[in-house]
Amino acid sequence: MTEPIESREEPEVKIKPPDSGAEFNAVEDVIYRRRSVRFFKNKQVPEYLVRRLLETARFAPSSGNAQPWKFIVIQDRKMIEEMTADVVAFCKFCCRFIDYVDRWNPLKEMYAKLMQRLLNNLLHPIPFAALKLIAEQKLGLWHGAQTVIIMLTDSRGPGDPAVDVGIAGENLVLAAHSYGLGTCWVSFCTPLKMMPKWRKRLGIRYPYKMVTSVALGYPRGNPDGYVPRETTAIDWFSEDRTFKVVY
Ligand SMILES: Cc1cc2nc3c(=O)[nH]c(=O)nc-3n(C[C@H](O)[C@H](O)[C@H](O)COP(=O)(O)O)c2cc1C
Repeated sequence: MTEPIESREEPEVKIKPPDSGAEFNAVEDVIYRRRSVRFFKNKQVPEYLVRRLLETARFAPSSGNAQPWKFIVIQDRKMIEEMTADVVAFCKFCCRFIDYVDRWNPLKEMYAKLMQRLLNNLLHPIPFAALKLIAEQKLGLWHGAQTVIIMLTDSRGPGDPAVDVGIAGENLVLAAHSYGLGTCWVSFCTPLKMMPKWRKRLGIRYPYKMVTSVALGYPRGNPDGYVPRETTAIDWFSEDRTFKVVY
């Protein structure tokens, strides 16, 4: 079992910021090399490692240090399969009415666009290709990972608890990659929160709301690596000038 960090002796901190142009440090390396892993080995992550990861999540910053989150760890393969089957059924049901990628049925696209207006980003067109692939079982839900960590917000938290849970989850994700494990954020788990069966089984009730999940396991191959990202313009106000930088 991982010892809680509070019970450890505090190490003397001697960290210096890097000089301009210095090599990436270990944290930067993990940030830049992490990729979403969608192929996992048939091997379970031991409990002590999962506990160690959960500790990194617990130490995330949160609004007012309210820590408005809850994690549910699922390492029961049968349960993961059952949840996957229910999400697949849900995706199939959705594809009967709404579809951005069905060229033969423009009505479905019209309906999808209308629903997107009403439900805001819930029906964003980007994940639609994935929804269809999940429905057709061409894309796994948790990609065969043997550990699933479901993340919930405590809706009593100040500000936006989803931001806090995202930060906590990313701590866990980066720590996992630093151990050579693989992860994939999976928000397609959220249909489960609408199903009374799963709300009961997972104990999801007020004040908790399921917001996302992470698939965790030993990656097959070596999926980590640098990938290009979009750049955005950043407005920078300093004492003597105001400028734009593109990062
Ligand atoms: C909140 C969130 C939800 C995501 N949901 C899914 C998902 O349901 N299924 C999936 O395969 N990937 C999912 N992803 C992974 C993204 O597709 C991936 O992070 C993005 O394409 C960038 O690729 P990279 O993680 O390899 O850098 C999700 C990522 C985030 C941050």
